[in-house]
Amino acid sequence: MAYQTIEVRKLTPVIGAEIHGVDLSKDLGNQQFQEIHDALMENLVVFFRDQKMTIDQHKAFGRRFGKLHVHPNAPQDLPDHKDILVIKADENSKHVAGEEWHSDVTCDEEPPMGSILYLHTVPPDGGGATMFANMYAAFDGLSKPMQRFLEGLTAVHDSAKAHFYRVKTTDRDDKTYPRTEHPIVRTHPVTGRKALFVNRGFTNRIMGLKKREGDALLEMLFQHIETPEFQCRFHWQPNSVAFWDNRATQHRALFDYHPHRRYGHRVTVCGDKPFYRA
Ligand code: SIN
Repeated sequence: MAYQTIEVRKLTPVIGAEIHGVDLSKDLGNQQFQEIHDALMENLVVFFRDQKMTIDQHKAFGRRFGKLHVHPNAPQDLPDHKDILVIKADENSKHVAGEEWHSDVTCDEEPPMGSILYLHTVPPDGGGATMFANMYAAFDGLSKPMQRFLEGLTAVHDSAKAHFYRVKTTDRDDKTYPRTEHPIVRTHPVTGRKALFVNRGFTNRIMGLKKREGDALLEMLFQHIETPEFQCRFHWQPNSVAFWDNRATQHRALFDYHPHRRYGHRVTVCGDKPFYRA
């Protein structure tokens, strides 16, 4: 794809690109906005370096892509900014957010279209990287009979599963945990491509199958999704930004840096109800 207002440098042939030539603290013109959106559709996750954004500027950038999402049960660390998710780890952390492969908040009936993470403080020596995986490639990499079998099925996404990690970091147990059912193969509303849409973080049951069948099938899919050829790994620097499309990717945060600090903010952009179109 040709870009006029940004430079796009691919990280791998399959997923991920760095975008240069943009200051995210400024209002984006229509063409630059469109090109960032196109680069996201093409590469599924895009990265920006050396950005300086206030919380309001971060939120304004997110709002160009849609309404901001409020997490149903994460801690509210900034009461004046309920749409900011604070991502933090320090010497006291035993776990961090996103340690399992997942797409964000798929327990919602309308899971977020994308998430924009801005880290100010990152650990030394390349620690605290985030891995991303391409869910179109995961679907395309299955055999045709398996693709056809999955296309008719739905699965349950339950945030109690994700809460297992969160409760250990925050000791919160005063919330209810959303749960919903989604197609296992979803059609991306912009590109029209088919993506595998189950994840280890939230998905716990396949409708219509016996538990033993469903558990085995989910485990096979979770392992398939982790195929290294579907992935890229992003090494953060202070003031880097990652913007991923939750409809076509999964990610996993690596916790290999204890006792160092890693800190930043995420805004999450609302999405639509997942659907499958043959
Ligand atoms: C997340 O949003 O799942 C956290 C990702 C990260 O901290 O790298």
